[in-house]
Amino acid sequence: MPKKTVRDITVKDKTVLVRVDFNVPQDPSTGAISDDSRIRAALPTINYLLDQYARIVLCSHWGRPDGKVVASMRLAPVAERLSEIIHKPVPVAPCCVGPQVEAMAAKLKPGEILMLENLRFHKEEERNDPVYAQSLARLAQVFVSDAFGATHRAHASTAGVASFLPSVAGFLLEKELDMLGRALSNPAHPFAAIIGGAKVSDKMAVLQNILAKIDVLVIGGGMANTFLVAQGYSVGQSTTETERVAFAKDVIEKCKARGVRLLLPEDVVVADKLEATAKAQTAPVDKIPASAKIGDIGPKSIAAYSRELGKCKTVVWNGPLGIFELKPFAAGTQAVARVLAGLKGATTVVGGGSTAEAIDSLGLADKMTHVSTGGGASLEFLEGKKLPGVEALLEKTA
Ligand code: 3PG
Repeated sequence: MPKKTVRDITVKDKTVLVRVDFNVPQDPSTGAISDDSRIRAALPTINYLLDQYARIVLCSHWGRPDGKVVASMRLAPVAERLSEIIHKPVPVAPCCVGPQVEAMAAKLKPGEILMLENLRFHKEEERNDPVYAQSLARLAQVFVSDAFGATHRAHASTAGVASFLPSVAGFLLEKELDMLGRALSNPAHPFAAIIGGAKVSDKMAVLQNILAKIDVLVIGGGMANTFLVAQGYSVGQSTTETERVAFAKDVIEKCKARGVRLLLPEDVVVADKLEATAKAQTAPVDKIPASAKIGDIGPKSIAAYSRELGKCKTVVWNGPLGIFELKPFAAGTQAVARVLAGLKGATTVVGGGSTAEAIDSLGLADKMTHVSTGGGASLEFLEGKKLPGVEALLEKTA
């Protein structure tokens, strides 16, 4: 059942608690925000509420402070970035709950914004403590969830608060559910899934859920090593998950039985060390040197993957195909990103996290139908799991 959105409820002149996912990446050396896409992704909801003269109380987590106040995780720089973008002051409350914050929220005028301090400075947030959730709810009359990236967490600000306020989805959450949902439930065929990333273990549930829906399965990343072992190849010093070889064999068999075209690497890029300065070379999968580690798919694999993906009408991508952060091992992920960017009339949906980072680093995000803002959340969605932060919202009645 679809969820009510901010359009289905009166917000004019009301105080609205808006949960956003401003868990933005920081430059490790300077601490500066290195990518503000998650802030920008919340703008349609924030601007709509401003146009409606709502009084906005924004709340988010940033990092994993584990229930303690951590100075480097205070939300001031995030509020400052939002303020620069929307050309409006965004003051940060000293805390998230309590009489002082309640007084600040009560003083808001229509069209004004207050941002709460990092929600995870309180251990009650991740415990989904009902008293903490109720204290958050006391700040507003309506709850809007626009934090798709945190909807897989059953926390006080994502799920708990919805027990105490009329709760609806913001525009980003609506778009994420719509794009991911349509790709899975009503895809144009041929439908391909590209599944990559480091470990088979992280992608078992998504493979299990998606196999019955797709026509093409493309495997890459570190997890492909275990599939190569399942095919009987020796992968040198590459990391493999011995305990997942049987699962990989099962996926290979299921693809055969269901007529799913499975693409596994035919050749790989290897080096003795997986480092930026590594001397990489290409090897066919039956001739991987005993001393080598696999860092990427090779040129023949790129050509085969590109050919097959070029015929698809729907592509869902979760997980890079190589260690794209290191130049010698970036070609596979880059080539496939370019193929998807050039697909005409196809729906291309990219999971968040490292896949989105790869697409962003190539400047191709706007060439995809949808790049999710949620890493863990998009993965759990593709696994077919219910997301607590979505379940908690009001249902749209016919
Ligand atoms: C994310 O970055 O995936 C979300 O903000 C959730 O963060 P978490 O994994 O720390 O809960």
